[in-house]
Amino acid sequence: MSTHAPMIDPFGRAVTYLRVSVTDRCDFRCSYCMSEHMSFLPKADLLTLEELDRLCSAFIRRGVRKLRITGGEPLVRRDIMSLFRGLSRHLDSGALEELTVTTNGSQLTRYARELADCGVRRINVSLDTLDPEKFRAITRWGALDKVLAGIDAARDAGLKVKLNAVALKDFNEDEFVPMIRWAHGNDMDITFIEVMPLGEVEGQRADQYLPLSEVRQRLAQEFSLDESAYRTGGPARYVTARETGGRIGFITPLTHNFCESCNRVRLTCTGTLFMCLGQEDAADLRKPLRASESDEALLAAIDSAIARKPKGHDFVIDRQTRAPAVSRHMSMTGG
Ligand code: 5AD
Ligand code: SF4
Repeated sequence: MSTHAPMIDPFGRAVTYLRVSVTDRCDFRCSYCMSEHMSFLPKADLLTLEELDRLCSAFIRRGVRKLRITGGEPLVRRDIMSLFRGLSRHLDSGALEELTVTTNGSQLTRYARELADCGVRRINVSLDTLDPEKFRAITRWGALDKVLAGIDAARDAGLKVKLNAVALKDFNEDEFVPMIRWAHGNDMDITFIEVMPLGEVEGQRADQYLPLSEVRQRLAQEFSLDESAYRTGGPARYVTARETGGRIGFITPLTHNFCESCNRVRLTCTGTLFMCLGQEDAADLRKPLRASESDEALLAAIDSAIARKPKGHDFVIDRQTRAPAVSRHMSMTGG
């Protein structure tokens, strides 16, 4: 098996996880994520799928063991399956442990089978509500029945599905219990995420923010929650509901900072590497990538970027200035 020694950042954290946003575009316009009138990157600025493969492969040489393909909505990028097919060689060789996707589910009826064929075992599907009208309202452009059909297709293809729900005050809080029952009844874990101040959107994030500590207290009145040691390598902390046997995750960037165990960096579809979701500092990898056919300059640029990975983020939802903590949208760095 060809595995590579991991990169270690200045705070002693091994960087073994790369998230790659393959497009900033999406077929939805979730209100906490995007503004209704987004301007997207010109297509000419995007790395080709071959370049993305080369970049991912360089990170794997540098010890990355887990790759997650995100967006925007990754499955709306043209010919995206060719990237998965290419990357699957690293699963075959053992250099890569896991290849995963975060998707809004809209294209899964079409792609679930192929994803499974490429060695994808687990996927995350974003789903904030099970009410068709609310679903339309929050995603502006999405259709719930399509996503539910996509989830079925994924499960039929043998993919393990985890649901991600953003906790939104006065929007979906009354649905958490039925959503958990539905997810667990269908053998899916579900994770709740606090809304993060990323990018300008219409409306006020402070009005959407619902601390998960509060959610957890309320869920504890409905379920007997047992602390779980289960980890997926991400920031979620899990509990098990004794009544269903299923897991409930909490991602709490605002109430609990998990930076000390951060193992990841994020690559955008233009080849910009962000060392932290909550900081503006970034490294341009497109230039060294295109400068030469050999990977020497690229690997050196990756090393020097990791050497400045910051200690952590500093999210606050600022009620005074009401400005986002970070000006780029989630669709650029893929969560
Ligand atoms: N805060 C929290 N979660 C967000 N997502 C998108 N924007 C935000 C935000 N501002 C979520 C999506 C998806 C995941 C990739 O990130 O709903 O589940
Ligand atoms: Fe698209 Fe996901 Fe953003 Fe919704 S949250 S607009 S599905 S990228």
